Amino acid sequence: MRVLITGGAGFIGSNFVHQTVRERPDVQVTVLDALTYAGDETSLAGVSEEIRFVEGSIADTALVDRLAADSDVVVHFAAESHNDNSLNDPSPFVQTNLIGTFTLLEAVRKHGVRFHHISTDEVYGDLELDDPAKFTPETPYNPSSPYSSTKAGSDLLVRAWARSFGVEATISNCSNNYGPYQHIEKFIPRQITNLIDGIRPRLYGAGLNVRDWIHVEDHNSAVWSILDGGRPGETYLIGADGETNNLDVVRTLLEIFERDADDFDHVADRPGHDLRYAIDATKLRDELGWSPRYTDFRAGLEATVQWYRDNEAWWRPHKAAVEAKYAATGQ
Ligand code: NAD
Ligand code: TYD
Repeated sequence: MRVLITGGAGFIGSNFVHQTVRERPDVQVTVLDALTYAGDETSLAGVSEEIRFVEGSIADTALVDRLAADSDVVVHFAAESHNDNSLNDPSPFVQTNLIGTFTLLEAVRKHGVRFHHISTDEVYGDLELDDPAKFTPETPYNPSSPYSSTKAGSDLLVRAWARSFGVEATISNCSNNYGPYQHIEKFIPRQITNLIDGIRPRLYGAGLNVRDWIHVEDHNSAVWSILDGGRPGETYLIGADGETNNLDVVRTLLEIFERDADDFDHVADRPGHDLRYAIDATKLRDELGWSPRYTDFRAGLEATVQWYRDNEAWWRPHKAAVEAKYAATGQ
């Protein structure tokens, strides 16, 4: 099977490439990645001999057409992925998440290639903190930010191309991931690298916002379950019952670093900050028999802390610039 993985030099995509090379020796992997600030080819260092790497944009029609013609399946991770950046400058989000996904859809339509679209639970908006409800595939779309609205738009394009043109497409909407190779602009690796540097963690607002954390390996094993058994045209929600508020995440990290429980700062809140995300993954579990393996969140965080300690060369070059950008917004 020839699989084209877009965004394979990013956080989740690079973990997906590693998992695929490790567990699916019959799969020929091609990665298409533009190597934006969020992409790093060294995230693929251990597998570079086993894959083909193409540097380029998913919005490059000729390139995408050529690569799709050579593929059986496209797994589409590439995106602008950070909410805070989308508030500062939405334009690359429209370009990559909407135009890029459109470009890929036209190519897979032309060449009859199977398509799997990686999306987020943020397309559903947010839930109240005290609401027992979780997101299901029937929850109406209600995105809050330029990031989540462009992801929602890309999901709708995929649905339309499946229905109107018969593209063999599936979609997955996953909750917040953590694990190795996550860019240090994101919440968990930002706090881990702060703590390594002796800086106090930074909590937006009161820190009571809830995210439904899942280890990146579990996200990617779910994507393989969908590629193996998912039904064309269907949407699957991926989550591992990991609801935790940001304050508790920071407190657990402080414990791991043997620091005082109150050794953090509250900083300016994010405008439009979604309160809570929570996934009901019943369809994925029941239809496809998937279950998560990394269910001990504290153990997963400890392993992730160790990864950032062991791989300082990977993140150190970006740390000062990321913190300078946050300082400009008081965060
Ligand atoms: P990331 O920002 O770490 O990586 C994105 C990758 O896409 C980078 O390698 C970047 O270079 C590449 N890219 C960006 N624009 C491109 C373009 N125009 N052409 C080709 N490549 C381009 O993102 P991530 O956290 O790994 O997220 C991957 C996907 O998973 C995204 O679609 C995101 O919406 C989705 N998702 C992420 C999470 C999460 O918690 N991180 C949760 C659910 C869904
Ligand atoms: P983030 O990793 O940006 O993911 P998302 O916005 O997709 O959920 O943020 C996760 C949560 O952490 C979110 O509620 C915002 C919050 N946050 C902080 O409290 N401090 C920080 O330094 C960052 C980056 C995020």
